[in-house]
Amino acid sequence: MKYTSAVLFLLALVACRDPQSPVDEPFEGPKMPANFPAPAYNLSQNPVTEAGFNLGKKLFYDKIISRDSTISCADCHISYSAFSHPDHPTSHGIDNLFGRRNALAVQNMLWGKEFFWDGGVPNLDLVPLNAIQSPVEMDNTPAEVLNRLKQNAEYKAMFKAAFGTEEVTTARFLQSLSQFMAMLISANSPYDHYVRGESGGELSSDALAGMTLFQTKCAGCHSTDLFTDNSFRNNGLLDDFTFDQGRYEVSQLPDDIGKFRVPSLRNVTATAPYMHHGKLKTLEAVLDHYASGVKESATLDPLLRQPDGSLGIPLNATEKAQIIAFLKTLTDEQFLRDARFAE
Ligand code: HEC
Ligand code: HEC
Repeated sequence: MKYTSAVLFLLALVACRDPQSPVDEPFEGPKMPANFPAPAYNLSQNPVTEAGFNLGKKLFYDKIISRDSTISCADCHISYSAFSHPDHPTSHGIDNLFGRRNALAVQNMLWGKEFFWDGGVPNLDLVPLNAIQSPVEMDNTPAEVLNRLKQNAEYKAMFKAAFGTEEVTTARFLQSLSQFMAMLISANSPYDHYVRGESGGELSSDALAGMTLFQTKCAGCHSTDLFTDNSFRNNGLLDDFTFDQGRYEVSQLPDDIGKFRVPSLRNVTATAPYMHHGKLKTLEAVLDHYASGVKESATLDPLLRQPDGSLGIPLNATEKAQIIAFLKTLTDEQFLRDARFAE
């Protein structure tokens, strides 16, 4: 017995002696997870290279982009919370100003079709322009950002490495940020291992019961392995949407008042607080909302109206706990701790 464990120990040691240390590993671009649908972003127009990724990452973490050099993208999009902003119901930007909405997670952006809670940004490449120009986020102009980068020798060298010449242009700036964001793929949660039949995919009986409940009660909107159908819906948070009219602000269609994009639920344990207004602090509060907090309004989603006329999704205490056990299997620790993405 003793002998066997000694041999196993030696074998384990040999297995751990990876001849390649992580720094020597060749750069690998974004890998498409087998259980995801086809990506929406056209990577052939902007192939991810190591130099482009490195430039995009430096820009993402650089406060120089904001008017007074106090705020970086990463201040509101923090790696360990799936690039969302923990403890901040709404975004907190320049001059200590607060926005109206909760910072969205930045993960699996290659599969995004329309960005922001109201889908107001049609292309990933254009998202940074919104953040830079937002008076409550970075309050700068793209021209001023380019001026600053052009005066910086390190950036000029990095633009050259990424794009062949030192020329600093808006297009290159945006492409490199998209290359960084393209790499932020989260697909290694216990749930992913489960659906792909890999080791690490052993789910508890509660989580499995929660998965079945989720499929009947939640997947009408939080569908596919991205956990969103990318549609805009009113899930009954409010009865008055004057403060933030959601999709209507983009489409101007009265039928869109109070509709917001169905968010992905990947890494949802790490992205609290929840909803566009950030007012629900816990997953328990979210389940209580669906079970007994749904409010009536003209655009309330039909899936939240029961045949007997009651509103919401019928859920008892056990069912709520099981759905939460399932949601916890969507946490991808490898992604949340990936050193390639952290500052
Ligand atoms: C002051 C906080 C703040 C800063 C700084 C900030 N963001 Fe955001 N970000 C947000 C908020 C809030 C949203 C949601 C906006 C909305 O829905 O109206 C968002 C949304 C996004 C999204 C869309 C995610 C989705 O699923 O639709 C991306 C991508 C993103 N930000 C990237 C960036 C980048 C890149 C930068 C830097 C150039 C940046 N952000 C700077 C707060 C911030
Ligand atoms: C009718 C469509 C619909 C159904 C059904 C639905 N959701 Fe949602 N869900 C949404 C929309 C839309 C939002 C965002 C609403 C907003 O912020 O205004 C959302 C937000 C959430 C959030 C917050 C995520 C975040 O990052 O802020 C969680 C968690 C959530 N839903 C879980 C569930 C669960 C669990 C169920 C089943 C019990 C469920 N949803 C059923 C449409 C739906």
